[in-house]
Amino acid sequence: MKIKQNENLKSYNTFNLAATAQNFISIFNENDIYSVLVEDLKPLKIIGGGSNILITKDIEAYVLKNEIKGIDIIDEDDESIMVEVGAGEQWHNFVMWCISHRLGGLENLSLIPGSVGAAPMQNIGAYGVEQESCFHSLTAIHLESGIRSTFFKHQCKFGYRESIFKNEVKDQYIITKVKYILNKINHKLNLDYGAIKEMLALNHIVTPTIKDVSDVVIKIRQSKLPDPQIIGNAGSFFKNPVIALSHYNELKTTYDKIPCFLVNDNSVKVPAGWLIENIGYKGFVRGQVGVHKDQALVLVNHGNGQGREIYALALEIIDKVRETYNIELTAEVNIW
Ligand code: EPU
Repeated sequence: MKIKQNENLKSYNTFNLAATAQNFISIFNENDIYSVLVEDLKPLKIIGGGSNILITKDIEAYVLKNEIKGIDIIDEDDESIMVEVGAGEQWHNFVMWCISHRLGGLENLSLIPGSVGAAPMQNIGAYGVEQESCFHSLTAIHLESGIRSTFFKHQCKFGYRESIFKNEVKDQYIITKVKYILNKINHKLNLDYGAIKEMLALNHIVTPTIKDVSDVVIKIRQSKLPDPQIIGNAGSFFKNPVIALSHYNELKTTYDKIPCFLVNDNSVKVPAGWLIENIGYKGFVRGQVGVHKDQALVLVNHGNGQGREIYALALEIIDKVRETYNIELTAEVNIW
């Protein structure tokens, strides 16, 4: 374990926001966590890849940086393989490990920033796949009692960018390891998402491999989403709202181009990016912060912006969307 005082969090969050953590503790294994708990250091705040947080002020809590690494094969048969991954591994590195071992399942989730431990927390998803489709279980330590538990898939209550760790047991556990099951053979690629089909056709790929799909997803993401190394951001800032079909039909009479995806017979998901673009915020700049020019769902820090300025802009967008469409947007990103 490594303890630092007054650490600048700028390089630990993908918005590249400067803020001071009074106490910053890097933990490398489960024993480090027990040491922190024995010393009764409180309150604790856990940071993984820092790709889903908006820091609006200096942090007085003890910030725990999860650096638990390792990718281990723990079970295998002719068709599939079970791997256990340290929660502090970078998600994309793990996906690349799968691709290099020709393992199918997570290729559509290439290039998502963040750590493996954060993936089940918000059930990351992209291009028609969510991490839950390969998830087996995870190990987590309760921050009050120190009890180490296994959460199996059915216990995690996965939903669209949701899990039990964002709701009932929010801030109560630190995830240490995650197990995924991947396909060695007979893997069915998910090519339903329009942009994937288009990009494969553009590259004249008729029978894609797992790696082809990963490569295509990386290209699509690079073309639409800003690279946090260049422009600070946390991916989609808001969730795509789910609204009643009747509400959607009513909106359609005014906004004939409003897109939607069917969720069930009575409700639809509307792309928040469209709602925000349609009220004129795409590419909006205020000082050093704004809305990305190619994806209105992504708020950005152009350089030396402040977290509270991004937060103020997010609240303004929420208000405008409510006034215009009577739809309540919710942040996908956690506000610190
Ligand atoms: N759209 C616009 N204007 C915009 C952005 C989007 O009109 O500025 C409309 C278009 O109709 C487009 C549709 O929204 O066809 C969908 O856009 P896109 O494919 O970019 O996906 P998204 O719904 O904006 C979601 C995820 C992304 C994920 C992509 C691809 C959420 C909150 N976001 O975005 O996830 O990569 O689908 O599957 O569900 C993330 O969570 O950080 C993230 C980037």
